[in-house]
Amino acid sequence: MSLQLITTEDGSSSLFNAQLNETYHSVHGAVAESRHVFIKEGLQFYIDKHQPTEIRIFEVGLGTGLNAYLTALFAKVNPSLSVVYHSIDTVVMPNEVLADINYPEILGADRELFEKLHLCPTDTTIELLPNFVFKKVVSDINRYNPDMGFDIIYFDAFAPDKQPDMWQLPLFEKLYAALSVNGIMVTYCAQGQFRRNLKALGYTVEKVTGPPPKREMTRVTKPLA
Ligand SMILES: C[S@@+](CC[C@H](N)C(=O)[O-])C[C@H]1O[C@@H](n2cnc3c(N)ncnc32)[C@H](O)[C@@H]1O
Repeated sequence: MSLQLITTEDGSSSLFNAQLNETYHSVHGAVAESRHVFIKEGLQFYIDKHQPTEIRIFEVGLGTGLNAYLTALFAKVNPSLSVVYHSIDTVVMPNEVLADINYPEILGADRELFEKLHLCPTDTTIELLPNFVFKKVVSDINRYNPDMGFDIIYFDAFAPDKQPDMWQLPLFEKLYAALSVNGIMVTYCAQGQFRRNLKALGYTVEKVTGPPPKREMTRVTKPLA
């Protein structure tokens, strides 16, 4: 894996994967993108709509752990909310790469929590905060069967033109089964064919304003059957 540290326009770190010629986040701002797509239009949207006291989240593509870290920080300032967070990635991020990532500094937050996310053993449920339980699975999502009953899926794979095997119907059929009724999935991707595929599988598809300068992103819901 050839990974190069980059700085995006909001000052936050990201990685460049030379094999795929692809960045892990928008070059216009890693933290800005993650906050918009996953926290504001995913987590906050779901909470505003359903007022849950417990939320179960599944993330496809843990990568640098930015989405998981922002979600843990959200839980920290919302102690009445319990979060169960499962993530999957094919690789474990090397420590030397993580050491230079500046999310704790940019967010004025706890580096220890960021490190704990990455250092925790795989396939083991760990209580990282009293109200944030985390499990990291190292596997290929196309070969893995997630637990059932997630309220939110953060779908953060590399783009369809870079990794087409991550955007095929059978995977989204499996993720549909893993969602609870009224559960949502959010992704930065706004491709028309992708949305039509999700609609054909039974998801209710919404176009949502994307993180600037992107016009759109996608949010889908699993409707009551
Ligand atoms: C766009 S990056 C994820 C960004 C990440 N959420 C972050 O905040 O850094 C895509 C991630 O998907 C992972 N990935 C690629 N193929 C995968 C697969 N088949 N199953 C699970 N994860 C995969 C990559 O290793 C990479 O970490």
